[in-house]
Amino acid sequence: MSADQTDRIPDEVIKRLQDASRVAVLTGAGVSAESGIPTFRGEDGIWKNYRAEELATPGAFQRDPDLVWEWYHWRRDIVSAASPNAAHRALVRIEEMAPAFVLITQNVDGLHLEAGSREVLEIHGNLRRARCSGCDDTVHLTDEDGLIECGKCGFPMRPDVIWFGEELAPDILERSFAAAANADFFLVAGTSSVVQPASSLAWIAGQNNGFVLEVNLDPTPLTGHADAALPGKAGDVLPRLVEEVWK
Ligand code: OAD
Ligand code: ZN
Repeated sequence: MSADQTDRIPDEVIKRLQDASRVAVLTGAGVSAESGIPTFRGEDGIWKNYRAEELATPGAFQRDPDLVWEWYHWRRDIVSAASPNAAHRALVRIEEMAPAFVLITQNVDGLHLEAGSREVLEIHGNLRRARCSGCDDTVHLTDEDGLIECGKCGFPMRPDVIWFGEELAPDILERSFAAAANADFFLVAGTSSVVQPASSLAWIAGQNNGFVLEVNLDPTPLTGHADAALPGKAGDVLPRLVEEVWK
């Protein structure tokens, strides 16, 4: 039996989640890892094998839109072949049980929505959409789509994701900050907690007396500051948490 399975979930974590009126969650690539989608900063992480400045910046898209699209089509193929895992499903269950719930995700794979989560803020966008670089109109991508132009204004379409050096959409950011500030229970799962502004959400929750729980395979800059940290795979730990809280 692995340590994940024997580690007990502290009573305080169970009680705080049971009693919470408003639950908010922040997820990162670790939550999709067990669906076979590579993370960014692990040993086989995307940023170990690819240079972000050549693929995930506005400058990269200006220089070589075909290359950028090719890379996103490759990532979209991986995502299309993947399915939600036990961690996504546990988060759907938490949403069903909590009186109020918001799921903030850095993931662009759309798997939370596919699993059935409803209140989802995709703060870094979604790989399955393209956005016009001129008028911001968005379209859902199909497998046949190559490099396309906007049907409304003729500008090039780009992946609808946030690139390095870009700001998050102000309305989504505002709703995320509000959800963190209002949460009685703030769960951070599968993120290295190094990318701003997402990583500041846990601090905002903590400053507003929210109970902060981290679930992650490895220690992060948040681990020592969270109210509780449960090490392990999200696909193991989150279902166990749900089971303990709502048995
Ligand atoms: P990272 O790759 O930085 O971090 C993933 C975290 O998940 C690491 O701390 C791993 O230890 C942990 N992990 C891996 N497998 C896990 C599992 N099965 N269960 C639980 N934890 C696991 O990914 P993010 O934190 O999501 O930005 O990265 C944040 C942002 O950086 C991404 O959204 C992306 C990237 O550049 C954009 O694309 C804008
Ligand atoms: Zn347009």
